[in-house]
Amino acid sequence: MYALLGAALGVTIALGPTLAVRLRFVLIHINLLGFMTLMVAGVAFHLLPRFSSRKLPWPEGMRYQFILQNAGLLGMVTLHALRSWQGGEAHAVFVFFAILAGIAFAIMFYNLYFVLSAPEETTKPEKITGEMKVAEVLDYFPQAL
Ligand code: HEM
Repeated sequence: MYALLGAALGVTIALGPTLAVRLRFVLIHINLLGFMTLMVAGVAFHLLPRFSSRKLPWPEGMRYQFILQNAGLLGMVTLHALRSWQGGEAHAVFVFFAILAGIAFAIMFYNLYFVLSAPEETTKPEKITGEMKVAEVLDYFPQAL
């Protein structure tokens, strides 16, 4: 949805370049924070634990990240598009949404940091079993390659 919205915004700004002043922030963040960051996070959460044979330390955090990142992004782009994000109460509300998005990044960092850290020491299994991940098989039985 964000990719589609980002493309539509891009075409809109191409048609009316003066809109860039108002919509530049919205375009950038819908595309990079909404589409790219969430897509990268989704793919990373799916693939990296399999590559590194490590579990996410806080799987439930993915749900919170998703909610906070969407709420933060939508709040920020709405206020920015209305041009009321600097000064006064609106600025405090903008900062609130920015903090929500920032917390979402911190959750992503926490989950991915531990998945990408060196694995804990484990004892070598005696034989290859159906439950083992490919990375574990290659670690313990490199001749299987
Ligand atoms: C916690 C998440 C984020 C927050 C709170 C945030 C907030 C902001 C703010 C307040 C500005 C200045 C807006 C202005 O001057 O009108 C800005 C600009 C910008 N941000 Fe973000 N941002 C976030 C994430 C990201 C990410 C993930 C990217 C790219 C991967 C990004 C790329 C940019 C760029 C390129 C600009 C410059 C926009 C311009 O030149 O008009 N931001 N951001």
